[in-house]
Order: sequence, then structure tokens, then C-alpha cells
Amino acid sequence: MLSTVVLWQGSPSDGRVRGEGKERGGDGEKEDLGEDCRSVASEEFRHKRASRHSLLAGKKVMIRQCDNSEFDTIYEIINDAAQAYRGVIPADCLKEPYMCRDELRREMDEGVVFWGCEEDGELVGVACIQQVQDVTLIRHAYVRTPKRNQGIGGSLLSHLRKQTTRPILVGTWADAVWAIRFYEKHGFQLVSSEEKDGLLRKYWSIPERQIETSVVLADRKWFDARRRQATGA
Ligand SMILES: CC(C)(COP(=O)(O)OP(=O)(O)OC[C@H]1O[C@@H](n2cnc3c(N)ncnc32)[C@H](O)[C@@H]1OP(=O)(O)O)[C@@H](O)C(=O)NCCC(=O)NCCS
Repeated sequence: MLSTVVLWQGSPSDGRVRGEGKERGGDGEKEDLGEDCRSVASEEFRHKRASRHSLLAGKKVMIRQCDNSEFDTIYEIINDAAQAYRGVIPADCLKEPYMCRDELRREMDEGVVFWGCEEDGELVGVACIQQVQDVTLIRHAYVRTPKRNQGIGGSLLSHLRKQTTRPILVGTWADAVWAIRFYEKHGFQLVSSEEKDGLLRKYWSIPERQIETSVVLADRKWFDARRRQATGA
């Protein structure tokens, strides 16, 4: 499904985010930035949501598929956002740049599809989906450092989840607690440490050291499928 979704434009009148319609290549889909948020009815959440909205107010924000001409911008966003790992993940796992051009090119050639969030015409965040065997992997979710915690990553994640009907897995560094929390807030759950190594070997092509220092989170569909498999139902 190739679509472009305008999430927000104009000023919020009542603190609610509205989908404003589709743009080129779309299929009439509309998306509401508050979708995941509505299920969380806490005062803290409403406060955070209101401040995020004020940051996005008056901006035109859309999610769309990236194209090859945006290679340099994607490269720049990944390596800027990955600065968050500095001093957090094991030093021997931190390369400079975090992802080199050859690696990014290889990923794209292997079928990783990048989606981007564009704010007022500028790409501010990216995330990918990759179909591997019987699952969909969400990979390389990166938001420009000054644009974090404004709902951009969450919007990208919600949009990517709609692109697949397969169970979804996400891998991240065990020490990237904010990323784990981010996915948990969006309904993903950590897979047990006994199981995660097997999944990382089966679905990802990453070094042993990265397997050792990473975690896997899965959506409900994956856990349901695993339960059915275990019970033979
Ligand atoms: C993780 C990431 C993609 C999330 O995108 P985002 O636009 O910041 O996400 P949102 O604004 O939708 O949601 C932010 C949530 O993520 C968490 N979070 C994100 N960055 C955080 C940080 N630096 N410190 C603490 N919490 C953080 C918070 O739980 C926050 O939720 P809350 O404000 O409701 O408590 C982005 O922060 C990022 O690029 N981080 C650095 C790279 C990274 O860790 N990528 C994940 C690779 S799998």
C-alpha cells in the first residue's frame, strides 16, 4: 500500500489531533495521530499529548514512503538520532558513523522499505518495515534529535503497523531503555531472553555481539501465534 497521510495541519482548537486527508498516491486513508493515545486515559498522558500538539501546531505533518533520492537525508537522520546511543550501549557496539553508507545501501537493496515523517516539507524521522519469512520486522526507527518526544516516532510506528497483517517483531539495544519503553507504550512486549537470541538469528542478519546485547519486542499477534503453536490449537 503506497499512501501519504497528512496527520496534522493548522492550529489545534481543542487539543485534539485531526487527520486532515490524503495526498498524492493515497487511497483515501486518513490517520489520527491520537490513535494509540486514546487508549491511555491518564492525566499525565493528556498533559504530554497537549504539549506535543502545541509543538506540532501550525505545522503540516505527513507520513510517506521515502524514495532513493532521499538516501543522504535518511543517512543523516539515522546517524544524528543514533547519537542517543553514545555512552549507553556497549562501546564496542558503537561505530562512527553508526550506520555507514554501504550498510544503508545494502539494507535498501535487501528490501528494507523506509517510510518518513515530513514536517513542513522536511524529513524529520524515518522507520522501516522488512518482510522476513513469516513476520514483519520494524527496523531503523530514528527521529532527528531536536524533534524527539513530539509524537513523530509514534505516528510512524502506527502507520507502519497498518502496512502488514503479519506478526511484527522489533529489535533494539537492551540498554536503549527509552526505545523499549516507546515500543511497550505502543503495545509491544519483550520476548523472553531465552527466546530472543533464536529470533535474532532467525530473522535478522546481525553479529553475535549485537545478538548478545539486544532485545526483541513482539506485538500481540506474534504472541497469539506462538501460544497457538505451543498448544497445537
Ligand atoms: C525512539 C524514537 C524513534 C521515538 O521517536 P519519538 O518521536 O521520540 O517518539 P514519540 O514522541 O512518539 O514518543 C516518545 C516516547 O518514547 C520515549 N522516549 C523517546 N526518546 C526518549 C528519550 N531520549 N528519553 C526518554 N524517553 C524517550 C518516551 O517513552 C516517550 O513517551 P512519553 O513521552 O509518552 O513518555 C526516537 O526517540 C529516537 O530516534 N531515539 C533515538 C534512536 C532510537 O533509540 N531508535 C530506536 C531504534 S529501534
